[in-house]
Amino acid sequence: RKGNATKEQIHQYNLVQQLPQAIIIGVRKGGTRALLEMLNLHPAVIKASQEIHFFDNDKNYAWGINWYREKMPFSFPHQITIEKSPAYFVTEEVPERIFKMNSSVKLLIIVREPTTRAVSDYTQVLEGKERKNKTYHKFEHLAVDASTCEVNTKYKAVRTSIYAKHLERWLKYFPVEQFHVVDGDRLITDPVPELQLVERFLNLPSKISQYNLYFNVTRGFYCLRFNFGSNKCLAGSKGRTHPDVDQSVVMKLQKFFHPFNQKFYQITGRTFNWPG
Ligand code: A3P
Repeated sequence: RKGNATKEQIHQYNLVQQLPQAIIIGVRKGGTRALLEMLNLHPAVIKASQEIHFFDNDKNYAWGINWYREKMPFSFPHQITIEKSPAYFVTEEVPERIFKMNSSVKLLIIVREPTTRAVSDYTQVLEGKERKNKTYHKFEHLAVDASTCEVNTKYKAVRTSIYAKHLERWLKYFPVEQFHVVDGDRLITDPVPELQLVERFLNLPSKISQYNLYFNVTRGFYCLRFNFGSNKCLAGSKGRTHPDVDQSVVMKLQKFFHPFNQKFYQITGRTFNWPG
């Protein structure tokens, strides 16, 4: 099995811990876990299971690059190691830090329709607050400023969905060709074609097939089937039911995101039919 090598295997097969050659930098709630797990189906890909938070967390970053390397799984030298930490996309210092590690690293961004992503983000935070019995506000009250009736751009779940703004910071360090945009909405409904685009971007032979992904009716999502026969669905926290949001607020947000979406399509060359 991939990922957990014994000492004997490390010596016998010359296994190494490599810095990632590709990183899923975000976006939070875009489907980052699903993307990582699905790419890991490829025999030449090996995932760092945990979010390492090396570049966005000053304490971790201060440990230095060898600390980061030691968090990586053992792999064959020809394999590609992939890490995902969705906070990277929105954290100011990260592009420069990643550039210093490897200026030719490949960067994957998985996005969803921005308003849906914002609601998903809200739903995750809400669940955390409910668990701690903390009070929480309705999405509508967080996303729209009650006094001005304008979209509240201070609200993190809104800000994270302004993809073009964040991407522009990254483009100060990396050329646009080094990014690949994954359609997170399509990864939910029809994952294989999206994964094939990623394989091509990573210069990998096409290996992930319909065999490796089957729709699990009970789960309501695609689940993974490994070549050695075992199956795995993502954790139950992936694929939460979203609260109903007032339609006028949804429309206000869609209208707000529209110009940023246009900019994002223009920069990346990937167009989505997001409403607005
Ligand atoms: P929702 O909980 O809003 O449905 P992330 O891993 O970046 O936190 O993203 C979580 C999202 O991944 C979920 O958002 C879910 O819709 C999506 N997703 C995509 N493919 C999935 C799959 N095969 N199984 C479960 N969730 C999946």
